[in-house]
Amino acid sequence: MIPDEDVERVRDAADIVAIISEHVRLKRVGSVFRGPCPFHQGTNNNFSVLPKGGYTCFVCGEKGNVFTFVQKRLGMTFVEAVKYVGEKSGIEVREVKAHREGPDPREPFWEINGTAAAWFTETLWNSPSAKEAREYLASRQISRETADRFELGYAPRELGLMRAYLNNLGWEDDRLLQAGLLVKRAEEEEPRPRFRDRLTFAILDAAAHHVAFGGRLLGPGEPKYLNSSESEVFHKGQTLYHLNAARQAMRREERAILVEGYFDVVRMVDAGIEPVVAPMGTALAEGQAELLRRHAKTVFIAYDSDAPGQKATFRAADVLLAQGVAVRVVTMPDGDDPDTYVRAHGRDAMEKLIANSLDVFDRKVQLLERGGWFNDLQRKRRALDSLLPTIRACTDQLTREMYLARAAEAAAVDRSVLARELEAGASRRARTSAPPPSPTIRRVRGEDEEAPVAPPPVQRVGPYRSTVEASSSERDLVRVMMLHRPLADAVIEGVGRLSDGEMERPDWLPEDEEQALPPARLRDPAYGAIYEALLEAEVSLQGGELVTWLGDKLEPWVVRLAEEMLDTPESMMNPQASIDGALRRLRERSMRDRLAELDRLTPIALGEQKDRLIAEKQRLNNELRHMGATGWKGYRRP
Ligand code: UTP
Ligand code: MN
Repeated sequence: MIPDEDVERVRDAADIVAIISEHVRLKRVGSVFRGPCPFHQGTNNNFSVLPKGGYTCFVCGEKGNVFTFVQKRLGMTFVEAVKYVGEKSGIEVREVKAHREGPDPREPFWEINGTAAAWFTETLWNSPSAKEAREYLASRQISRETADRFELGYAPRELGLMRAYLNNLGWEDDRLLQAGLLVKRAEEEEPRPRFRDRLTFAILDAAAHHVAFGGRLLGPGEPKYLNSSESEVFHKGQTLYHLNAARQAMRREERAILVEGYFDVVRMVDAGIEPVVAPMGTALAEGQAELLRRHAKTVFIAYDSDAPGQKATFRAADVLLAQGVAVRVVTMPDGDDPDTYVRAHGRDAMEKLIANSLDVFDRKVQLLERGGWFNDLQRKRRALDSLLPTIRACTDQLTREMYLARAAEAAAVDRSVLARELEAGASRRARTSAPPPSPTIRRVRGEDEEAPVAPPPVQRVGPYRSTVEASSSERDLVRVMMLHRPLADAVIEGVGRLSDGEMERPDWLPEDEEQALPPARLRDPAYGAIYEALLEAEVSLQGGELVTWLGDKLEPWVVRLAEEMLDTPESMMNPQASIDGALRRLRERSMRDRLAELDRLTPIALGEQKDRLIAEKQRLNNELRHMGATGWKGYRRP
């Protein structure tokens, strides 16, 4: 027996026209291929093959897919046919012994989730405790019919009901815990239901097995949505909500529409727009993008149009472009999501928005143009920097060329300059190591409570190692501030004079890790965080008191670092000289950075502007020589 996933993969990869062509002389006629029917030995071109999959003979009525063709024509069994087609399509096919292995070990999980889904539905419609849930659905104008179609349900507030029901059917607590329906915080605690007082959405995998649930609170509260935890059968990054039902429409219509939430899917499908799926509260994962690629050539992203929605849109777009799908962006009016928009304006209006979608790259360029990002040189540089990763993400060569030309045109820069940067960036990217752990706390929109809110605690072995240039100077400054409190103001003033040239960026751009560092004047994330905290510390706070005070503001590992810095035995003989030396080196660093920036600006500058940049470069170089700067060990621009 061959696993369903493999059969599916072979079917997707197979070029049915090429395979049938080996047995029938086919000619292209419009979007299909025609030839004499091999089944009734016809002579006229009554046999038609669709490149998307499938063949029909208009005379003898034979029809089927790539596998049935091979089975009938070459007299193979289904398994042989799948292997044969797989070989021709470069897909490896695993055959598993159905008898030996017994039932799929995932079966119990599918069954538990399916049973729970039925119980949630039953509870929603028949339990007095679900009155509020029923009213909630009515208030969102979801009909009973639609609710049933999506297997909406209600997980009651009461603790033992679902557990008792499932226990009674023979499912032990252990299983229910593994399936993620029950949770247990401590060993001794009674297991509790994961979903309480929530409207539930049944989540099915591509083969229509029940694998998980999403649950929405009826009232306000956090988190608004909760998903089942990852399990044997549920891998969030490889699951798309509603894919099992939407895939036929995706193939038929050759498009997929990606929306953010459960209700967006429900509403659109209810209105008759079918090829709609949603990732579940995560940024679109590679596995999800791959699923989309297997079903549609074009993905329309219809997320909220606010800044977080745009960020998520462009991040998802890059993941999709990497899979070689075409990506178009549907712009929702301010304040609307597909759910509210379709509810208010109906299907045709939504289709109109979809028809008015822009290719993701054009949308980016449009936003940059509207924001005036191509008007001055600095911002133009920034704009190009934001476009290049998208071009780079693109695996489709033609699209890539088109994007390159479009960017060059929008920025009025020579195409070859950008092409060179694209190359250079690609090799640089491969060389650079991971950025240092950042002690800032970041939240990702829409992720449920399981998502890490802060980066995981950093296990440091040995002394803290910064990856930032001149970090030892930053360290010196922070040490002076802690050891010689009255000099803190002098440090702050000196640091303030360093022009660090924090550049603005369009707020809808997804931040990559590097740019998510805190906006500290000191660049090392740890020293920077301590510095920022010290800005507010009273001069009278010293030693242990100071550390305690920092303890309220910083993550534990950063506090430990501060403590170590206070304790370092090496003395600070002349703090003022330390400050001066450190500030001088940091000033050098800024100057070198500016030089590097000039090198990046010069190629995209024109005429007189270019001359000015070259003059500035000479001036800076002179000044650096004058300062006697020799650089410091290990200082290198990437
Ligand atoms: P939204 O908060 O934008 O949802 O989150 P929505 O669909 O507009 O919600 P309603 O209309 O207020 O009910 C979009 C999606 O992000 C995930 C869910 O999958 C949700 O459908 N999400 C959101 C979470 O996983 N956790 C959250 O806390 C919030
Ligand atoms: Mn909504």
